[in-house]
Amino acid sequence: MQWATTTLAVYGLGAAALATSMLTLGRRLELSQAKHRSLAGHARMARRLAGFVPFYDYDEARFFDCDGAPADTASLRRAGLAHLSELYKTRFAETIRYSAEAAETISDLQFTGAYRVPFQYRRMVRAHLPIGAFLQASDGVTVTDLDGNRFYDLTGSYGVNVFGYDFYKGTIERGAARVHELGPVLGAYHPLIVENTRRIKEISGLDEVSFHMSGTEAVMQAVRLARYHTRRTHLVRFCGAYHGWWGDVQPGIGNPQPAHETYTLAEMSEDTLHVLRTRRDIACVLVNPEQGLHPNAPAPTDSSLLDSSRSSHFDKADYTAWLKRLREVCSERNIVLIFDEVFVGFRLAPGGAQEYFGVRADLVTYGKTIGGGLPIGVVCGRKDLMKRFRDDRPADICFARGTFNAHPYVMAAMNEFLRQFQTPQVQALYRDLDAVWDGRAQKLNRRLADEGLPVQVANMSALWVVCYTQPSRYNWMLQYYLRAEGLALSWVGTARLIFSLNYTDADFDAVADRFVAATKAMQQDGWWWHDPATTNKSIRRAILKEMIAHRLFPARKH
Ligand SMILES: Cc1ncc(COP(=O)(O)O)c(C=O)c1O
Repeated sequence: MQWATTTLAVYGLGAAALATSMLTLGRRLELSQAKHRSLAGHARMARRLAGFVPFYDYDEARFFDCDGAPADTASLRRAGLAHLSELYKTRFAETIRYSAEAAETISDLQFTGAYRVPFQYRRMVRAHLPIGAFLQASDGVTVTDLDGNRFYDLTGSYGVNVFGYDFYKGTIERGAARVHELGPVLGAYHPLIVENTRRIKEISGLDEVSFHMSGTEAVMQAVRLARYHTRRTHLVRFCGAYHGWWGDVQPGIGNPQPAHETYTLAEMSEDTLHVLRTRRDIACVLVNPEQGLHPNAPAPTDSSLLDSSRSSHFDKADYTAWLKRLREVCSERNIVLIFDEVFVGFRLAPGGAQEYFGVRADLVTYGKTIGGGLPIGVVCGRKDLMKRFRDDRPADICFARGTFNAHPYVMAAMNEFLRQFQTPQVQALYRDLDAVWDGRAQKLNRRLADEGLPVQVANMSALWVVCYTQPSRYNWMLQYYLRAEGLALSWVGTARLIFSLNYTDADFDAVADRFVAATKAMQQDGWWWHDPATTNKSIRRAILKEMIAHRLFPARKH
């Protein structure tokens, strides 16, 4: 009898264990289903695979005909490169000289210099088309290099420049004068901070504010608060979304350590909503609304422009519907919804992405432009979520400090920014903002199509991506033709054009003329020669073959 009871108990325990493992397995399976199919959706795998990619590059001949172009096209390209190279080396001589010297000791310059184009072309490009990293002045919508060349600025200073550089010169200068008497005293606040918090509360519609030194730090603090208050471990970020360079939000390539408490899930996906509804370990969901322009794909730098598969299309209604559903599920499950508006804040609408999409977040991070031109990160949130200690557990705190937080000069530039921002003149800039920028994008796209050029732009308001309409291996060359026409691009090249809102129609038309001229020149130089049998897939397959060959037989000439 006793034996039978013991056996039953063992079977019972076994069945329970089996049920638990089945449940765990089921949950894991659901998590896998909620990942985006792309490599970017599988952060760990991407990191592992990245370690296997061998370096190799094209020799001079192959540089010009790696797509199988005939000899006359290769010669055309060769002459095009020689002409461009001559132009760069004479027109940008002083700027290039400074940059080359600086790159020997500034590691950031070495990195950006190495990742402007796919690595196979890097050596030739760097030898012939060196890029200057120095500027001496900004004015209106232009910047001037050390040789006195003026460029239309399409870098937007990583998104900081929303209202034009003169605006920020003013905020910094007036701000500095207002706190001069206190100077750089830290720890105690300058009274201006009180007005700043009042204005940020008005803009965000949230209860409390904390100041940090960068967008990355603001995101770190928002996630830390979410984990503290929910007592859950994991953050959810969406495939492709950038949230700064803190390890937990950069679980894939770029971070030497795996992020163990991050789920990278597919955006705009039912499976993701199911995971959020059913798992118990999710503290927060991070949304970077910029992803509306290319959900589930990273902001694509030109260094990954190996073919023409880069695509972008912003559908505001679709993305809004997604955010609303996300909001509902987060509310149902007490998951903290964080809008990371470090990049898009103040760009889309006066009340930021929350207003633009009509969705309220629990925590919002701001950065970049809100510092009035100086370094900043801001977290705003519901009162209960912003609290960093527990009244009933004095030793259980959520620590966040920083030497330079709320620096008087930053607070003063921010104050000037917020005051200006809330004036009717600046608010008027947002009237018809999308219509203006959509109209400009359409106008440029029509011109490009009419000229038979294989290039189109996609946009989310004044944030643009250049896309390529015919399979090609050489699209990354366009950035060099654009610079030659006097358009300043950031190191990601044509992946991101960021316009400031002070671009007039005349300024824009000048940019469009130069854009079309650059694109035509590149076409005339033969870079878009096209074999009708080539597809983006066949290009990718050919590159994969090259990589495998170089991995297996590194010493052999391929
Ligand atoms: C959405 C988003 N979050 C966070 C960051 C990081 O901000 P920072 O570069 O100030 O650390 C960025 C920077 O580009 C960003 O775009």
